[in-house]
Amino acid sequence: MAGLLDEIEPVKASALNAFAAAEDLDALEQARVGFLGSNGRFTALMKQLGTLSKEEKPAAGKAINIAKGALETALANKRSELELKAALPKEPTDFSLPGRRRVLGKLHPLTQVTEDIVRSFRKIGFVVADGPEVEDEYHCFDALNTPADHPARDAQDTFYLAAGSEGGQLSNLLRTHTSSVQIRVMKKQSPPVRIIVPGRVYRRDNADATHNPTFHQVEGLYVDRNVTVGDLKGTVEFVFKELMGPETKIRFRPHYFSYTEPSFEIDFSSALTRKMGKEWLEIAGCGMVHPQVFENVGYDPGVWTGWAFGFGIERIAMIRYGINDIRLFYENDLRFLKQF
Ligand code: DAH
Repeated sequence: MAGLLDEIEPVKASALNAFAAAEDLDALEQARVGFLGSNGRFTALMKQLGTLSKEEKPAAGKAINIAKGALETALANKRSELELKAALPKEPTDFSLPGRRRVLGKLHPLTQVTEDIVRSFRKIGFVVADGPEVEDEYHCFDALNTPADHPARDAQDTFYLAAGSEGGQLSNLLRTHTSSVQIRVMKKQSPPVRIIVPGRVYRRDNADATHNPTFHQVEGLYVDRNVTVGDLKGTVEFVFKELMGPETKIRFRPHYFSYTEPSFEIDFSSALTRKMGKEWLEIAGCGMVHPQVFENVGYDPGVWTGWAFGFGIERIAMIRYGINDIRLFYENDLRFLKQF
Protein backbone atom coordinates (compact mmCIF):
# COMPACT_ATOMS: atom_id res chain seq x y z
CA MET A 1 0.00 0.00 0.00
CA ALA A 2 2.37 2.65 -1.19
CA GLY A 3 -0.80 4.82 -1.46
CA LEU A 4 -0.87 5.76 2.21
CA LEU A 5 2.66 7.15 2.25
CA ASP A 6 1.83 9.23 -0.81
CA GLU A 7 -1.34 10.58 0.74
CA ILE A 8 0.31 11.96 3.88
CA GLU A 9 2.02 14.97 2.38
CA PRO A 10 -0.98 16.32 0.43
CA VAL A 11 -3.33 15.95 3.42
CA LYS A 12 -0.77 17.59 5.67
CA ALA A 13 -0.34 20.43 3.18
CA SER A 14 -4.05 21.12 2.93
CA ALA A 15 -4.37 20.96 6.75
CA LEU A 16 -1.59 23.53 7.11
CA ASN A 17 -3.32 25.70 4.53
CA ALA A 18 -6.63 25.43 6.33
CA PHE A 19 -5.02 26.32 9.69
CA ALA A 20 -3.19 29.27 8.17
CA ALA A 21 -6.37 30.54 6.53
CA ALA A 22 -8.45 30.50 9.74
CA GLU A 23 -9.46 34.05 10.57
CA ASP A 24 -10.64 33.42 14.10
CA LEU A 25 -10.64 30.76 16.80
CA ASP A 26 -13.95 29.25 15.63
CA ALA A 27 -12.64 28.82 12.11
CA LEU A 28 -9.45 27.26 13.45
CA GLU A 29 -11.45 24.82 15.54
CA GLN A 30 -13.47 23.82 12.47
CA ALA A 31 -10.27 23.24 10.54
CA ARG A 32 -8.87 21.17 13.39
CA VAL A 33 -11.96 18.97 13.51
CA GLY A 34 -11.83 18.58 9.73
CA PHE A 35 -8.35 17.11 9.85
CA LEU A 36 -7.62 15.90 13.35
CA GLY A 37 -11.13 15.24 14.73
CA SER A 38 -12.32 11.65 15.04
CA ASN A 39 -13.74 11.77 11.54
CA GLY A 40 -11.01 14.07 10.20
CA ARG A 41 -9.05 13.49 7.02
CA PHE A 42 -5.71 13.11 8.77
CA THR A 43 -7.23 10.84 11.40
CA ALA A 44 -8.50 8.67 8.58
CA LEU A 45 -4.90 8.18 7.41
CA MET A 46 -3.88 7.15 10.90
CA LYS A 47 -6.69 4.63 11.00
CA GLN A 48 -5.39 3.10 7.76
CA LEU A 49 -2.06 2.32 9.42
CA GLY A 50 -3.61 -0.74 10.98
CA THR A 51 -4.35 -2.21 7.57
CA LEU A 52 -0.72 -2.07 6.38
CA SER A 53 1.61 -5.03 6.19
CA LYS A 54 4.40 -5.52 8.70
CA GLU A 55 6.98 -4.30 6.21
CA GLU A 56 5.11 -1.15 5.32
CA LYS A 57 4.07 -0.11 8.79
CA PRO A 58 7.33 1.35 10.20
CA ALA A 59 7.97 3.82 7.39
CA ALA A 60 4.33 4.88 7.14
CA GLY A 61 4.02 5.15 10.93
CA LYS A 62 7.07 7.34 11.13
CA ALA A 63 5.88 9.61 8.36
CA ILE A 64 2.45 9.95 9.98
CA ASN A 65 3.95 10.83 13.35
CA ILE A 66 6.20 13.49 11.88
CA ALA A 67 3.31 14.97 9.95
CA LYS A 68 1.08 14.88 13.03
CA GLY A 69 3.72 16.70 15.07
CA ALA A 70 3.97 19.38 12.40
CA LEU A 71 0.19 19.82 12.36
CA GLU A 72 -0.03 20.11 16.13
CA THR A 73 2.73 22.71 16.24
CA ALA A 74 1.11 24.72 13.48
CA LEU A 75 -2.24 24.49 15.24
CA ALA A 76 -0.83 25.66 18.58
CA ASN A 77 1.01 28.57 16.99
CA LYS A 78 -2.04 29.67 15.07
CA ARG A 79 -4.17 29.36 18.19
CA SER A 80 -1.88 31.69 20.22
CA GLU A 81 -1.82 34.14 17.38
CA LEU A 82 -5.64 34.21 17.16
CA GLU A 83 -6.03 34.41 20.94
CA LEU A 84 -3.76 37.42 21.04
CA LYS A 85 -5.68 38.98 18.19
CA ALA A 86 -8.96 38.40 20.03
CA ALA A 87 -7.56 40.11 23.13
CA LEU A 88 -6.41 43.22 21.33
CA PRO A 89 -8.69 46.27 21.20
CA LYS A 90 -10.89 46.40 18.11
CA GLU A 91 -10.53 50.17 17.80
CA PRO A 92 -7.18 51.71 17.02
CA THR A 93 -5.39 53.03 20.13
CA ASP A 94 -5.26 56.81 20.56
CA PHE A 95 -1.87 57.35 22.10
CA SER A 96 -2.56 61.05 22.60
CA LEU A 97 -5.24 60.37 25.25
CA PRO A 98 -4.15 61.24 28.80
CA GLY A 99 -3.18 58.21 30.90
CA ARG A 100 -5.47 56.71 33.46
CA ARG A 101 -4.44 58.09 36.84
CA ARG A 102 -3.96 55.52 39.56
CA VAL A 103 -5.81 56.41 42.75
CA LEU A 104 -3.18 56.89 45.42
CA GLY A 105 -3.88 55.45 48.86
CA LYS A 106 -3.59 57.65 51.92
CA LEU A 107 -2.84 57.22 55.57
CA HIS A 108 -5.85 56.96 57.86
CA PRO A 109 -6.58 60.30 59.59
CA LEU A 110 -5.75 58.73 62.97
CA THR A 111 -2.40 57.57 61.61
CA GLN A 112 -1.72 61.02 60.23
CA VAL A 113 -2.43 62.65 63.59
CA THR A 114 -0.34 60.03 65.40
CA GLU A 115 2.57 60.66 63.06
CA ASP A 116 2.28 64.42 63.64
CA ILE A 117 2.33 63.90 67.40
CA VAL A 118 5.33 61.59 67.18
CA ARG A 119 7.15 64.04 64.90
CA SER A 120 6.68 66.90 67.37
CA PHE A 121 7.99 64.88 70.29
CA ARG A 122 10.93 63.60 68.28
CA LYS A 123 12.03 67.19 67.78
CA ILE A 124 12.57 67.49 71.52
CA GLY A 125 14.31 64.18 72.04
CA PHE A 126 11.55 61.68 72.74
CA VAL A 127 11.65 58.16 71.33
CA VAL A 128 8.70 55.88 70.63
CA ALA A 129 8.18 52.92 72.95
CA ASP A 130 5.72 50.07 72.64
CA GLY A 131 4.03 47.49 74.81
CA PRO A 132 1.49 44.68 74.56
CA GLU A 133 -2.22 45.33 74.10
CA VAL A 134 -2.96 42.19 76.11
CA GLU A 135 -1.66 43.30 79.49
CA ASP A 136 -1.78 41.99 83.01
CA GLU A 137 -3.26 43.70 86.03
CA TYR A 138 0.17 44.35 87.47
CA HIS A 139 1.39 46.57 84.62
CA CYS A 140 -2.00 48.13 83.93
CA PHE A 141 -2.96 48.89 87.53
CA ASP A 142 -0.95 47.62 90.51
CA ALA A 143 2.44 48.97 89.48
CA LEU A 144 0.73 52.25 88.65
CA ASN A 145 -0.40 52.52 92.25
CA THR A 146 -4.01 51.94 91.23
CA PRO A 147 -5.84 50.36 94.15
CA ALA A 148 -7.90 47.19 93.85
CA ASP A 149 -11.15 49.09 94.38
CA HIS A 150 -10.50 51.60 91.62
CA PRO A 151 -13.42 51.70 89.16
CA ALA A 152 -11.10 51.21 86.18
CA ARG A 153 -10.47 47.70 87.51
CA ASP A 154 -14.13 46.77 87.54
CA ALA A 155 -15.26 44.10 85.09
CA GLN A 156 -17.90 46.57 83.93
CA ASP A 157 -15.18 48.87 82.68
CA THR A 158 -12.46 46.55 81.48
CA PHE A 159 -12.16 43.57 79.12
CA TYR A 160 -10.66 40.73 81.16
CA LEU A 161 -9.37 37.63 79.45
CA ALA A 162 -9.84 34.12 80.81
CA ALA A 163 -8.61 34.22 84.41
CA GLY A 164 -5.73 32.38 85.97
CA SER A 165 -2.65 33.51 84.07
CA GLU A 166 0.31 35.27 85.70
CA GLY A 167 0.81 32.66 88.38
CA GLY A 168 -2.91 32.31 88.99
CA GLN A 169 -2.94 35.60 90.85
CA LEU A 170 -3.67 38.27 88.33
CA SER A 171 -5.81 38.29 85.23
CA ASN A 172 -4.86 39.30 81.75
CA LEU A 173 -6.86 42.08 80.21
CA LEU A 174 -6.95 44.36 77.22
CA ARG A 175 -5.03 47.40 78.37
CA THR A 176 -7.28 50.27 79.37
CA HIS A 177 -4.57 52.87 78.82
CA THR A 178 -1.05 53.18 77.45
CA SER A 179 0.22 54.02 80.95
CA SER A 180 1.12 50.32 81.41
CA VAL A 181 4.02 50.90 79.01
CA GLN A 182 5.54 53.38 81.49
CA ILE A 183 6.07 50.44 83.84
CA ARG A 184 7.41 48.11 81.15
CA VAL A 185 9.96 50.66 79.96
CA MET A 186 11.12 51.74 83.42
CA LYS A 187 11.52 48.11 84.50
CA LYS A 188 13.75 47.49 81.50
CA GLN A 189 15.94 50.57 81.41
CA SER A 190 17.50 52.88 83.93
CA PRO A 191 16.84 56.62 83.93
CA PRO A 192 16.87 59.05 82.24
CA VAL A 193 13.79 58.11 80.21
CA ARG A 194 12.14 60.17 77.51
CA ILE A 195 9.46 58.19 75.68
CA ILE A 196 6.14 58.55 73.99
CA VAL A 197 3.83 55.60 73.44
CA PRO A 198 1.15 55.77 70.80
CA GLY A 199 -1.14 52.75 70.93
CA ARG A 200 -4.54 51.13 70.96
CA VAL A 201 -6.48 50.81 74.21
CA TYR A 202 -9.75 49.14 75.19
CA ARG A 203 -12.65 49.97 77.47
CA ARG A 204 -16.08 48.50 77.94
CA ASP A 205 -17.87 51.55 76.63
CA ASN A 206 -20.84 51.32 74.31
CA ALA A 207 -20.10 53.05 71.05
CA ASP A 208 -21.69 56.46 70.68
CA ALA A 209 -20.65 59.76 69.14
CA THR A 210 -17.81 60.23 71.62
CA HIS A 211 -17.02 56.68 72.83
CA ASN A 212 -15.75 53.52 71.22
CA PRO A 213 -14.64 50.29 72.93
CA THR A 214 -11.26 50.59 71.25
CA PHE A 215 -9.49 53.86 70.75
CA HIS A 216 -5.97 55.26 70.74
CA GLN A 217 -3.84 57.13 73.20
CA VAL A 218 -0.43 58.68 73.39
CA GLU A 219 1.45 58.33 76.62
CA GLY A 220 4.47 60.43 77.50
CA LEU A 221 7.04 59.83 80.21
CA TYR A 222 10.06 61.90 81.13
CA VAL A 223 12.33 60.89 84.01
CA ASP A 224 15.54 62.64 84.96
CA ARG A 225 17.04 64.59 87.84
CA ASN A 226 15.25 67.80 88.83
CA VAL A 227 12.31 67.48 86.44
CA THR A 228 9.58 69.98 87.26
CA VAL A 229 5.95 70.79 86.47
CA GLY A 230 7.41 73.68 84.47
CA ASP A 231 9.10 71.16 82.15
CA LEU A 232 5.81 69.34 81.80
CA LYS A 233 3.88 72.47 80.98
CA GLY A 234 6.50 73.74 78.54
CA THR A 235 6.60 70.42 76.72
CA VAL A 236 2.83 70.09 76.45
CA GLU A 237 2.57 73.68 75.28
CA PHE A 238 5.18 73.14 72.58
CA VAL A 239 3.49 70.01 71.25
CA PHE A 240 -0.03 71.41 71.28
CA LYS A 241 1.06 74.56 69.49
CA GLU A 242 2.58 72.35 66.82
CA LEU A 243 -0.57 70.23 66.58
CA MET A 244 -3.31 72.82 66.93
CA GLY A 245 -1.74 76.05 65.75
CA PRO A 246 0.66 78.66 67.17
CA GLU A 247 -1.97 80.66 69.07
CA THR A 248 -2.97 77.60 71.12
CA LYS A 249 -3.03 78.16 74.88
CA ILE A 250 -3.05 75.49 77.57
CA ARG A 251 -3.94 75.51 81.25
CA PHE A 252 -3.57 72.97 84.04
CA ARG A 253 -6.37 72.16 86.48
CA PRO A 254 -5.72 70.08 89.61
CA HIS A 255 -6.99 66.52 89.28
CA TYR A 256 -6.36 63.05 90.68
CA PHE A 257 -4.53 60.12 89.13
CA SER A 258 -3.12 57.43 91.38
CA TYR A 259 0.20 57.27 89.53
CA THR A 260 0.98 60.98 89.60
CA GLU A 261 1.22 63.51 92.42
CA PRO A 262 0.37 66.29 91.92
CA SER A 263 -1.96 65.48 89.02
CA PHE A 264 -3.59 67.78 86.49
CA GLU A 265 -6.02 67.85 83.69
CA ILE A 266 -4.89 69.83 80.68
CA ASP A 267 -7.32 72.15 78.91
CA PHE A 268 -6.46 73.90 75.72
CA SER A 269 -7.89 76.84 73.89
CA SER A 270 -7.51 77.77 70.23
CA ALA A 271 -9.45 78.85 67.17
CA LEU A 272 -10.58 75.22 66.94
CA THR A 273 -12.14 75.14 70.40
CA ARG A 274 -13.85 78.46 69.76
CA LYS A 275 -15.24 77.01 66.54
CA MET A 276 -16.81 74.32 68.72
CA GLY A 277 -18.36 77.06 70.86
CA LYS A 278 -15.97 76.57 73.79
CA GLU A 279 -13.09 78.61 75.08
CA TRP A 280 -11.41 75.70 76.94
CA LEU A 281 -11.56 72.01 76.10
CA GLU A 282 -10.22 69.24 78.32
CA ILE A 283 -7.67 67.23 76.40
CA ALA A 284 -5.28 65.24 78.59
CA GLY A 285 -4.30 63.97 82.02
CA CYS A 286 -0.85 64.42 83.47
CA GLY A 287 1.22 64.88 86.58
CA MET A 288 4.50 64.29 88.36
CA VAL A 289 5.27 60.58 88.61
CA HIS A 290 4.21 59.28 92.03
CA PRO A 291 7.16 58.21 94.22
CA GLN A 292 5.44 54.86 94.78
CA VAL A 293 5.56 54.19 91.02
CA PHE A 294 9.31 54.81 91.07
CA GLU A 295 9.63 52.42 94.01
CA ASN A 296 7.64 49.82 92.09
CA VAL A 297 10.03 49.87 89.13
CA GLY A 298 13.20 50.13 91.25
CA TYR A 299 14.03 53.80 90.67
CA ASP A 300 15.15 55.80 93.71
CA PRO A 301 12.48 58.51 94.24
CA GLY A 302 15.03 60.51 96.21
CA VAL A 303 17.15 60.88 93.07
CA TRP A 304 14.75 60.73 90.18
CA THR A 305 11.80 62.91 89.33
CA GLY A 306 9.57 62.82 86.31
CA TRP A 307 6.33 63.61 84.67
CA ALA A 308 3.84 61.67 82.61
CA PHE A 309 0.80 62.44 80.54
CA GLY A 310 -1.76 60.63 78.44
CA PHE A 311 -4.30 61.75 75.92
CA GLY A 312 -6.68 60.37 73.32
CA ILE A 313 -5.69 60.56 69.68
CA GLU A 314 -9.26 60.40 68.38
CA ARG A 315 -10.16 63.45 70.41
CA ILE A 316 -7.29 65.44 68.93
CA ALA A 317 -8.24 64.33 65.42
CA MET A 318 -11.92 65.18 65.99
CA ILE A 319 -11.10 68.68 67.17
CA ARG A 320 -8.55 69.23 64.47
CA TYR A 321 -10.77 68.15 61.58
CA GLY A 322 -14.13 69.14 63.05
CA ILE A 323 -15.42 65.56 63.19
CA ASN A 324 -18.46 65.11 65.40
CA ASP A 325 -18.76 61.32 65.61
CA ILE A 326 -15.87 59.09 66.69
CA ARG A 327 -17.38 56.07 64.94
CA LEU A 328 -16.59 57.58 61.55
CA PHE A 329 -12.94 56.66 62.14
CA TYR A 330 -13.67 52.94 62.20
CA GLU A 331 -16.24 52.51 59.44
CA ASN A 332 -13.74 52.59 56.58
CA ASP A 333 -16.14 54.58 54.45
CA LEU A 334 -14.04 55.94 51.60
CA ARG A 335 -16.26 59.01 51.29
CA PHE A 336 -15.10 59.92 54.80
CA LEU A 337 -11.49 58.77 54.51
CA LYS A 338 -10.83 60.53 51.20
CA GLN A 339 -11.28 63.90 52.87
CA PHE A 340 -8.03 63.74 54.83
N1 DAH B 1 -4.08 56.92 81.79
C1 DAH B 1 -4.96 58.07 81.86
C2 DAH B 1 -6.25 57.75 81.12
O1 DAH B 1 -6.30 56.78 80.43
C3 DAH B 1 -4.31 59.27 81.26
C4 DAH B 1 -3.15 59.72 82.05
C5 DAH B 1 -3.31 60.57 83.12
C6 DAH B 1 -1.87 59.26 81.73
C7 DAH B 1 -2.24 61.00 83.86
C8 DAH B 1 -0.78 59.68 82.50
C9 DAH B 1 -1.00 60.55 83.56
O2 DAH B 1 0.46 59.28 82.23
O3 DAH B 1 0.08 60.97 84.27
O4 DAH B 1 -7.19 58.48 81.26
